[in-house]
Amino acid sequence: NLPILTTPHELDRYLQSHRSQSIGFVPTMGALHVGHQSLIERARSENTVVIVSIFVNPLQFAADEDLDRYPRQLEIDRVICEAAGVDMLFVPTVESMGIRDTLTQVVPPASMVNRLCGNTRTGHFQGVATIVAKLLNIVQPDRAYFGEKDAQQLAIIRRIVTDLNLPVSIVGCPTLRANSGLAHSSRNQYLSPTGRSQAAVIYRSLQQAQKLAKNGETDPHKLLTAAKTELSTVTEFHLEYLELVDPHTLQSIDTLDKPALLAIAGRIENTRLIDNIGILPA
Ligand code: PAJ
Repeated sequence: NLPILTTPHELDRYLQSHRSQSIGFVPTMGALHVGHQSLIERARSENTVVIVSIFVNPLQFAADEDLDRYPRQLEIDRVICEAAGVDMLFVPTVESMGIRDTLTQVVPPASMVNRLCGNTRTGHFQGVATIVAKLLNIVQPDRAYFGEKDAQQLAIIRRIVTDLNLPVSIVGCPTLRANSGLAHSSRNQYLSPTGRSQAAVIYRSLQQAQKLAKNGETDPHKLLTAAKTELSTVTEFHLEYLELVDPHTLQSIDTLDKPALLAIAGRIENTRLIDNIGILPA
């Protein structure tokens, strides 16, 4: 069985004898699916040692969010990691991570945090930033792997690594999708079969905007309208935001004259889902 280490101290002892090798790191919250697996495979192909962490980080959940019911399936996750060639699974206890009220936190720029998902999830990205900085300092990997599915998270993490001179390369990995186009997510487990098929409208709507851009449309308003028209075919989908932004700064763009990101969030069956697509000018 793939061993599991449960404190930073234990992991540090294990890594002491591996520091001369290249280390790839995939931080997760568990309930692993093929999206996570693709990050692990990428890490496996680029490093000698691969570490996966599973930590359902209390700092990034608001009081009214799903921390308590977030899916936990450690034994299944362990089998997935073992099959994917992971060298060590790091599943720290909340206590060993020093999570408490008086904790030094990493504060990303407000301009990147107070928008898109940050509009409704106050404190979320500060919680992500803080835990990712802690994990990177514990593991000290050469490369850390993150999904483009969480595009705002990825942009903020890249920014933290630059601003704090963290000695790691951040590798962004493409979004893995079901055949319907629905992006794989641990939260898809909350959906009924009907909800899952309805949720495919999210990616269809992004593709409509992408198609229009390919045909030369540069007006963000028209691109958003094309996506919204598709979304309106599924009345069970409740849109939270749909925005065309710069993928690095996350600021809205006035005209499509460079690569942009179309980002969306909404709810189906009261489950919050996010997705995004790259939009290139024709
Ligand atoms: P989690 O939601 O478990 O995701 C772990 C990593 O898997 C993230 O980098 C995420 O972008 C990536 N991922 C999720 N779904 C994906 C998909 N369908 N295709 C490709 N990659 C996908 O994101 C987090 O955990 C946490 O915020 C974390 C970074 C671990 C900090 O707590």
